[in-house]
Amino acid sequence: MKEVKIEALFTVYDHLDETPKKIQDLMVKAIEARKKAYAPYSKFQVGAAILLDNGEVVTGSNQENASYPSGLCAERTAIYYAGAQFPEAKILMMVLTAGSIQHPTLTPIPPCGACRQAIAEYEVKQEAPIEIYFMGETGKVAKSDSLANLLPLVFDKSFL
Ligand code: THU
Repeated sequence: MKEVKIEALFTVYDHLDETPKKIQDLMVKAIEARKKAYAPYSKFQVGAAILLDNGEVVTGSNQENASYPSGLCAERTAIYYAGAQFPEAKILMMVLTAGSIQHPTLTPIPPCGACRQAIAEYEVKQEAPIEIYFMGETGKVAKSDSLANLLPLVFDKSFL
């Protein structure tokens, strides 16, 4: 018997202003996307901006539905669009912002488990890490160098 410890390493910036200019520009696009969220039920808006290696930026926001499980998170809205439109491109990074319209959201909000699984699929497919930056509406920005860091013990195609 042995115990296995898994560690995750993050970089935390005190404010968006501290991040590289490229990230600030992407975050502006993610914020624009967040404001277009369709979230009448949760009133929680999420925006995602994805930078591809061909220079394209794809954005997405959460899209809710009266039949709640039929809605989709911002991350998957964006990443499936990227996969559909640019199947040959590699995803370099994903930048996220989330906030409730009912109260301030000032801590970094990480992607949910289902979105981590969806992002992992593309990281495995492209055999290159996807950097993930996540923020609330404003405030600190957390960065993970790869999706694998956010989802240890991932289930992927190697098990099939
Ligand atoms: N949501 C996202 O868009 N991304 C996440 O990673 C977590 C949750 C959305 C889904 C739903 O529309 C709302 O936020 C509340 O869960």
